[in-house]
Amino acid sequence: MNNIRNKNIKGLKVLVRCDLNVPIKNGKVVDDFRIKKLIPTINYLRSAGAKIILITHLGRPRERDLAFSVRPVARRLWELVSGRVEFVDDTIGDKVEKEINEMLEGDIVVLENLRFYKEEEQNDDEFSKKLARLGDIFVQDAFGACHREHSSIVGVNKYIPSFPGLLLEEEIRVLSDALVSPDRPLVSMVGGFKVSSKIKVIKRLLEKSDYLLLGGRVANSLLMAKGIYVKDLLSSEEEELMEVAKEINLADPKLQLPIDGVMGLSNFDEEYKRIGAIGSIRKEEDVLDIGPETIEKYKNILSGAKTIIWNGPLGYFEKETFSKGTEEIARIIGQINSEVFSIVGGGETVEAIQKLGIENQFDHISTGGGAMLDFIAGKELPGIKALEYEN
Ligand code: 3PG
Ligand code: MG
Repeated sequence: MNNIRNKNIKGLKVLVRCDLNVPIKNGKVVDDFRIKKLIPTINYLRSAGAKIILITHLGRPRERDLAFSVRPVARRLWELVSGRVEFVDDTIGDKVEKEINEMLEGDIVVLENLRFYKEEEQNDDEFSKKLARLGDIFVQDAFGACHREHSSIVGVNKYIPSFPGLLLEEEIRVLSDALVSPDRPLVSMVGGFKVSSKIKVIKRLLEKSDYLLLGGRVANSLLMAKGIYVKDLLSSEEEELMEVAKEINLADPKLQLPIDGVMGLSNFDEEYKRIGAIGSIRKEEDVLDIGPETIEKYKNILSGAKTIIWNGPLGYFEKETFSKGTEEIARIIGQINSEVFSIVGGGETVEAIQKLGIENQFDHISTGGGAMLDFIAGKELPGIKALEYEN
């Protein structure tokens, strides 16, 4: 892989693919975490005298739709960095090229949403070429989108020299170190909703970790795969659980499942709440959070850890009544942070930590959701592989 620091980029037009897919409400960015994580790259490129052209996707628009415009992102970036930041309301073509030709060293131009062009997601070769025309070199810094085979992820790199950005380098380094040579014990924790998207991750983490703690619906699915009644199953779920049982060694002593839960009703009515042992669940109930004994058990394991990897909330944390497990565990990790190297990722997990205002008590908050899961699962991310392309 190339190293941007070994290249003289003074006066060059540097096309940077970033993942500035951030939540927007009423035309304003409501969470600028991903924007802030890009700033070291921007500062580096600026200090080296580059002209910086930023491209990103935002949301999943079907066509040009201003509800998904990148303009508010450019505005927030302008508030966060000094110097010139311009927004152009297109992604390729004459207007964009004209604006770029007027740039001075250190200037930033932010282009409109890549996904306003359907060619982006189709990885259309002509579109990749048009993007490549915008820069002298390409910097890939969109770790969160590196699992997508889109033009700006696996196409542009074929036409201009390509480099990983500082954020991408950091994500790869931190996640690989934690998986390949962690300070032990390594304790992993996986929660969240869909077990189907996490089977490979659970399997790999079980191989790599000293303990794997589970929560959320994912834990419920594993309990059921072990034959413990948690709720009635749909036939599609039965298939999924057979897959779980086939792939994951459910008897592995490293695998830790909840022993009690906060039960709610399947309609999530917040008035109803009962704490009980996992085996005590009633027909009308659903396990919506980990219970106090599980919190205690997980706390003991986490307290002995030297490295922690966490992805996915441990309960239905959006509802106050069922958020305690996720919050308590987040606080515990925050409190022991000086003793442990902690890595967290996944949009919802990061949101839970931000809600508590304890982001600073974690060592690495990943900008990747699906990308982080694929990386942990050991899948080759197309966007990272593409950087090995020789021009
Ligand atoms: C994310 O938010 O996970 C990334 O930006 C990828 O977005 P996508 O799932 O719409 O491709
Ligand atoms: Mg630490």
